[in-house]
Amino acid sequence: MLSGAQPTADSYHLGNYFGAFKQWVALQDEFEAFYFIPDLHAITVEYDPAQLRERTYIAAAQFLAAGVDPDRSALFVQSQVPEHAQLAWVLGGVTGFGEASRMTQFKDKSARSGSDSSSVGLFTYPILMAADILLYQADRVPVGEDQRQHVELTRNLAQRFNHRFGETFTVPEPYIVKATAKIYDLQDPTAKMSGSNQSHAGVVDLTDSPKQVAKKIKTAMTDSGSVISFDRDEKPGVSNLLSIYSALTDEPIEAIVAQFEGKQYGHLKVALADLVADFVGAFGDRTRELLDDRGELDRILAQGAAQAREVAAATLDLVYERSGFVRGL
Ligand code: TRP
Repeated sequence: MLSGAQPTADSYHLGNYFGAFKQWVALQDEFEAFYFIPDLHAITVEYDPAQLRERTYIAAAQFLAAGVDPDRSALFVQSQVPEHAQLAWVLGGVTGFGEASRMTQFKDKSARSGSDSSSVGLFTYPILMAADILLYQADRVPVGEDQRQHVELTRNLAQRFNHRFGETFTVPEPYIVKATAKIYDLQDPTAKMSGSNQSHAGVVDLTDSPKQVAKKIKTAMTDSGSVISFDRDEKPGVSNLLSIYSALTDEPIEAIVAQFEGKQYGHLKVALADLVADFVGAFGDRTRELLDDRGELDRILAQGAAQAREVAAATLDLVYERSGFVRGL
């Protein structure tokens, strides 16, 4: 199994934690897991090199703080495993221009900046993602719904390559994570919590201080009426708070609703603000400790890259063989 999350913000947020990391951590008991930071993907839009390097370290520290265990899973940085770029080139040869042009994420992202100013890298991004997945012969790829089309493309490329050149790749299944809790923006609870949301007033970043977090929860948008109940359509704000409460405590929503019977929105907010502040506070402490020892982080990432390369190099070797490259001595 393999998954990754782009280091495109200064911190991941609570939605990433409940939507991805929590599952990753649980899945490492069952699967041989590869978790990586796709820094090569991050350079397909304008970026600052020093910032990318810092964000990559933060990402690594946050994966670890979330519970990714480098003794059980390979945790690595994509650019430290050169086979990703190498396989992406080969896969480019079996990808149709038309099928790449149909990727909706590319269309959305390039529409935002104007397609002429989008990079070629942004266009070929899904091919690199296919390489990420196929190198490890992954059976399962836990991703959010927004990545489903990329995993579909990966399946098509794997099947096509296998058909033309002989059985080479495992055809992966998307494993659309039904998030334990889908977390929405606190200020606009109809939009999912996202690092790219313009304002961070509704986003709980995992590097926020407990004080900042408490404030964000207490000033969250709530709904008309005063009864605490779960109803995504009629009460998106309160429902979001209940989801977060449930995700943090592992209590079912109904139990929380029952616990707050007869109480007002404000009571729920105060209780939740404490919970989230404690969680984010502890998470931040662990992250900072990890970030304070770059040597140790470098060592963990090097160990992960070495582990990853063992598998990646074997796959690439087979691909080069099948592709008709002279293998030399
Ligand atoms: N494209 C993914 C995202 O934006 C990140 C990613 C890159 C990824 N390569 C991957 C996810 C391979 C899963 C598997 O979230």
